[in-house]
Amino acid sequence: LKITHIAALIFSLYFLSFLRNGNAHSWVERAYFVSNNTIVGQPGFPRGNVLRTSPSFTDKAMTYLLPPNGHTTNTFLPSDPFCKETQRSANQTSGSPVLSAHVNDTILLLYQENGHVTKLDEDPRHITSGVIRVYGTSNSSPTDTLQGINEWGFDKFIQSKGDYGLMLWASFDDGDCYQDNNTPKALERKTLVQRAHLEVEGNDLWCGWRVRLPAISP
Ligand SMILES: *[C@@H]1O[C@H](CO)[C@@H](O)[C@H](O)[C@H]1NC(C)=O
Ligand SMILES: *[C@@H]1O[C@H](CO)[C@@H](O)[C@H](O)[C@H]1NC(C)=O
Ligand SMILES: *[C@@H]1O[C@H](CO)[C@@H](O)[C@H](O)[C@H]1NC(C)=O
Repeated sequence: LKITHIAALIFSLYFLSFLRNGNAHSWVERAYFVSNNTIVGQPGFPRGNVLRTSPSFTDKAMTYLLPPNGHTTNTFLPSDPFCKETQRSANQTSGSPVLSAHVNDTILLLYQENGHVTKLDEDPRHITSGVIRVYGTSNSSPTDTLQGINEWGFDKFIQSKGDYGLMLWASFDDGDCYQDNNTPKALERKTLVQRAHLEVEGNDLWCGWRVRLPAISP
């Protein structure tokens, strides 16, 4: 397995807390290579991406709920696939290419907070924005399951010689992000020092976490 160009890495954010009333789910919209603290080059996109600007876009096109509606609450079956159906094979949709990056590169994964940060106060059922986990593999399979991947830890990258593992476990709220919605939290964050907004963000600041791509076994 010789991969210096990690096109095969899959990134899935698992959000353990959702605002059920808002209908607003989040997913990795883009990834960028970061050098010297600065976003460099063109973005990369998830597999099977449906851009928000596409006529076929709906929230559902990019969300994968586990357990799915109809399942017993909080029950994950051993057979529940890790990825959404449209993202189980390495298939990039037209106009949404994969990110080009190399071993040891730092990449930034960007997602929208969709009220999970700025409107948290309005949701009595949640006291935090929840957490995210980022898993990576150079060896993904359409049959990977959530339960299987749940056993991946930070140490697994070393044990598996870089084939798979947990890359990041962090709070959903990166401490900076907001949607420009005039909530007290958004108004406060707008005044803070922040990175330059991308054109696609407009007045919002998307949430982002960086991960470093680990070495892959030769
Ligand atoms: C990194 O960024 C800093 C601050 O913008 C700049 O002074 C420095 O020259 C940059 N270094 C490289 C290697 O580009
Ligand atoms: C890749 O995605 C496109 C667009 O969604 C679809 O038409 C095509 O069948 C997919 N190919 C594979 C191999 O999944
Ligand atoms: C990645 O970083 C490690 C540790 O700093 C280094 O030993 C290795 O040579 C680097 N690999 C590449 C491909 O740059």
